[in-house]
Amino acid sequence: MIRTNWAYKLEQYAALRYRKKILNRTKKSKIQSPPSYILWDCTRRCNLKCEHCGATKETYDRELSSEEIKKVISELRAMKTRMFSVTGGEPFMRKDVLDVLSFAHSQGLKTGIATNGFFIDKPMVKKIKEAGVDSIQISLDGLEKTHNTIRGDSQSFQRAIQALQYLQEIDLPVLSVATTITKNNFRELEKIWDLLVDLQVKIWRISVVMPIGRAEIKDQFLLDTSQMNHLFAFIEENSKPLEIRIAENLPYLAHYEERIRREPFLCPVGITACCIGVDGNVRGCPEQPDIPDFIEGNVLQNSIADIWQYGFKKYRCNETLFKDETCKHCVEKYRCFGGCYVMRIGNIHCIYNLI
Ligand SMILES: C[S@@+](CC[C@H](N)C(=O)[O-])C[C@H]1O[C@@H](n2cnc3c(N)ncnc32)[C@H](O)[C@@H]1O
Repeated sequence: MIRTNWAYKLEQYAALRYRKKILNRTKKSKIQSPPSYILWDCTRRCNLKCEHCGATKETYDRELSSEEIKKVISELRAMKTRMFSVTGGEPFMRKDVLDVLSFAHSQGLKTGIATNGFFIDKPMVKKIKEAGVDSIQISLDGLEKTHNTIRGDSQSFQRAIQALQYLQEIDLPVLSVATTITKNNFRELEKIWDLLVDLQVKIWRISVVMPIGRAEIKDQFLLDTSQMNHLFAFIEENSKPLEIRIAENLPYLAHYEERIRREPFLCPVGITACCIGVDGNVRGCPEQPDIPDFIEGNVLQNSIADIWQYGFKKYRCNETLFKDETCKHCVEKYRCFGGCYVMRIGNIHCIYNLI
């Protein structure tokens, strides 16, 4: 158990108050608190072919140019946004990614990259340091054979490990490993843990597969009830020396919630965070499909400040809690706030029911 019950309850109360404070502040002053975290989905090009890749759900003819995204970053600085991170696709497929992050750094924003690590050699590490990047997350989906099979490339494991080791030499403020747990790597949980401890990794972010892109047929990938219970029990027993962080697509975890989550669950979409898509469409997170239901505006047509201020209404009024038949009557609704919008696409948002 990583938190005593009362400590968790205090934190949960604080999180609820925080959410209410943000929403009330908006209502009173009519001005939305700025997003503290922006994720830029910078490209859908990728050097790998992950079997569960959700990013394949759309393709684009056009990507925002360096100048276009830098203009948005200047607006974010004026809004006092704290962090600007990139994901994809593979961010390093864009030759200008470090130039853009260096610009964000010069504007006082903290910066981050989610990457498969393939292109991070020694010269690249030097450039990363020079660009002032604060946080890097490397994906690792299993031991060598499993990772390479999942990622469709025989060198991908070795390159990811090498990237981790090179990056450890430059003392980044945050260096983490991310694993998407599916039926195909579930049996290696313990072995991945051993490997990460051996490599002296400090933070391990665990998510489960979302029903999008190549993982749309979720049954092939998504853990069943007993595997999900095993995953949570595993996290409970192994939260040291690795810090295991549970991704936002795993909302309220029923009896495991207080035992394994470090902070009470709060999906940040529309409350403290959002995503700028490949061609400038703004939505909650990169996993949300780029369709009208999720699009709140486009940074080439409107300022990000206006999109943030006037968009994201459904997230801020807890729409699902009052519309969804199951959530409406659920006793735990104020602990999960309806869960993850993307998991909802495959009707797998209710972990409480699942386990
Ligand atoms: C979309 S990738 C983009 C960044 C980079 N190419 C990488 O591999 O880390 C970011 C993370 O999302 C995970 N991911 C991809 N498809 C997913 C899905 N359908 N459900 C959950 N996570 C997924 C990947 O395994 C990876 O850890």
